Amino acid sequence: KLMKVFITRRIPQEGMKILAAAEGCEVSQWDSDEPVPRSELLKGVQGAHGLLCLLSDKIDQEVLDAAGPNLKVISTMSVGFDHLVLSEIKKRGIRVGYTPDVLTDATAELTVALLLATSRRLPEGVEEVKSGGWSSWKPLWLCGYGLSGSTVGIIGLGRIGMAIAQRLLPFGVKRLLYSGRTAKSYAAEVNGEFVPLDTLTSESDFIVVSCSLTPETQGLCDKAFFSKMKKNAIFINSSRGAVVNQEDLYDALSSGQIAAAGLDVTTPEPLPTNHPLLTLKNCVVLPHIGSATYSTRGVMSALAAQNLLGGLQGSDMPSELTL
Ligand code: GLV
Ligand code: GLV
Repeated sequence: KLMKVFITRRIPQEGMKILAAAEGCEVSQWDSDEPVPRSELLKGVQGAHGLLCLLSDKIDQEVLDAAGPNLKVISTMSVGFDHLVLSEIKKRGIRVGYTPDVLTDATAELTVALLLATSRRLPEGVEEVKSGGWSSWKPLWLCGYGLSGSTVGIIGLGRIGMAIAQRLLPFGVKRLLYSGRTAKSYAAEVNGEFVPLDTLTSESDFIVVSCSLTPETQGLCDKAFFSKMKKNAIFINSSRGAVVNQEDLYDALSSGQIAAAGLDVTTPEPLPTNHPLLTLKNCVVLPHIGSATYSTRGVMSALAAQNLLGGLQGSDMPSELTL
């Protein structure tokens, strides 16, 4: 019988091809690069058996009610799933697919790029060249902090956290600390020391947030957290904006409590162009592009399509989230 699928955005063709080749799949789509308006999402999911969504779509009780009892599977083209209200989804027996692993390398790479851009002040340097602020090679100008001999602390040593650690170590990092719910045996591969969050915060020269957003990690990086950091320390977040209290981060950056911050994620997204964080030279903000390589986005869309089909057919999904 015919299975109805709703896709909430224009996605790379890799996934669209897989769905087009699937028998009995009737696809409708919000065919735009811009997010689906809420009203269109509520309309689009009506009677759907499958929903392919993105991290910008909040999938809550209202959406599930609008979809109705046909809905068997939700496939998100993301590794994060904090936009899905899992308690409501589970109650209805709906399966969930997501896209871990395939974006690990790209996201770790972007995180390293953001760390270096922040610590070595690349955006400021580029701006100075363009604006004529570059008058001479100057011994004291545009100095930053190097990784060599430093202590790096990673909050959340999961798949992406490990890939970040592996990429940073060759820069001459002296100690690698990590914190999280439990120690990880695989941390030995990167000489990672499992420490309490307070130790990580006070001893690290670079702090990288790479945990998922959960009730435990929401607002984790707040005034108390930043006040424990070293004055020369740099804060990087490529996970979810809501792990950080942005007002507290602004205060820490503007008062010189910490040296700099690099953020690939914010609350909200997009960050309004008049946001106070954007007035700071020591804050580098990127538009949530961790997984944005051509090939990674292609593979993510293919995996999201395969997860969707598995869920529709009641068979294995390549990456099913355990609810
Ligand atoms: C990106 O943030 C993702 O969750 O895939
Ligand atoms: C820098 O370019 C140097 O030669 O020291």
